[in-house]
Amino acid sequence: MVDSLKKPSFEEIRPGIKVPAKETLLTPRFYTTDFDQMAQMDIAANEDELKAILEEFRADYNRHHFVRDEEFEQSWDHIDGETRRLFVEFLERSCTAEFSGFLLYKELGRRLKDKSPVLAECFNLMSRDEARHAGFLNKAMSDFKLSLDLGFLTKSRSYTYFQPKFIFYATYLSEKIGYWRYITIYRHLEAHPEDRIYPIFRFFENWCQDENRHGDFFDAIMRAQPQMLNDWKARLWCRFFLLSVFVTMYLNDIQRKDFYASIGLDAREYDKYVIEKTNETAGRVFPVMLDVNNPKFYEWLEACIQNNEKLTAIANSNTPKFLQFFQKLPYYVSNGWKFLQLYLLKPIDAMAIQGSVR
Ligand SMILES: [Fe+2]
Ligand SMILES: [Fe+2]
Repeated sequence: MVDSLKKPSFEEIRPGIKVPAKETLLTPRFYTTDFDQMAQMDIAANEDELKAILEEFRADYNRHHFVRDEEFEQSWDHIDGETRRLFVEFLERSCTAEFSGFLLYKELGRRLKDKSPVLAECFNLMSRDEARHAGFLNKAMSDFKLSLDLGFLTKSRSYTYFQPKFIFYATYLSEKIGYWRYITIYRHLEAHPEDRIYPIFRFFENWCQDENRHGDFFDAIMRAQPQMLNDWKARLWCRFFLLSVFVTMYLNDIQRKDFYASIGLDAREYDKYVIEKTNETAGRVFPVMLDVNNPKFYEWLEACIQNNEKLTAIANSNTPKFLQFFQKLPYYVSNGWKFLQLYLLKPIDAMAIQGSVR
């Protein structure tokens, strides 16, 4: 009896297979692009670096890394109640994000095969890595007696179209922010082993190196296409993608701060650190960085957090749906306005810094 109280219930498609979380603005997305345009891309300007990265991918340093050891072989029922719910949610979100990378890279590998063999092989080898990551996370979900039907996910999710340039901005950032997220959790738990309540975090050190290499690959592609980085449009779009990625992560993580607390992390401190590091890293290739140290930056983000709390309260109330819309409207408008203010906050010229480093 106690068990049923302690175990949060999840909707299942069939026994043990979780109904995927509902898609919202803040859930991981699936992407598609203009594959022909991608295939015509000329990478000659940076071919040597891309070939060096391909060699690294071929070396496959993590070939033997993703093997579940005996530490997994135990009951995880003591992770229960709200912590269990948050854990499953964390694993599902991570698995979905990794799997989304797998699908995109796999398709790119397939479509570029004849026209751009170096890129095609890079994409195939990255999809190999993402498949491992997603599989490992899905296996971890099964420790909590649930898993995702990835075939079902492939068919049921909607795909967002991005032109190639935007795919590169977005995937570059998601790889680099993924790197900083994994390594920050890893280092924290290395210093505080008592907080490592589940073994998957031990794998994050080598794992994040995959993400780092993937990010370097996109860095090299963008350098091969200088027009993606050096005009006024590039500056505006890079700002937009940086901000979107940071806002999405911050809103998601603060909403789930109890998960981070369960492994001894303060979600706000963690996110601020990851944002600062990702911003710095992006400044090595993007023409701009965001001024994340401007006090307005987090002040406005916190205003969005408060709006979202109000929106959740309205959604969970008994008010009829059509009335809820009118109750929610001012908070949506406020979020939009904050996003615009954040976007207009004067950015930092990364070109100047890149110039001085070189
Ligand atoms: Fe990954
Ligand atoms: Fe990756």
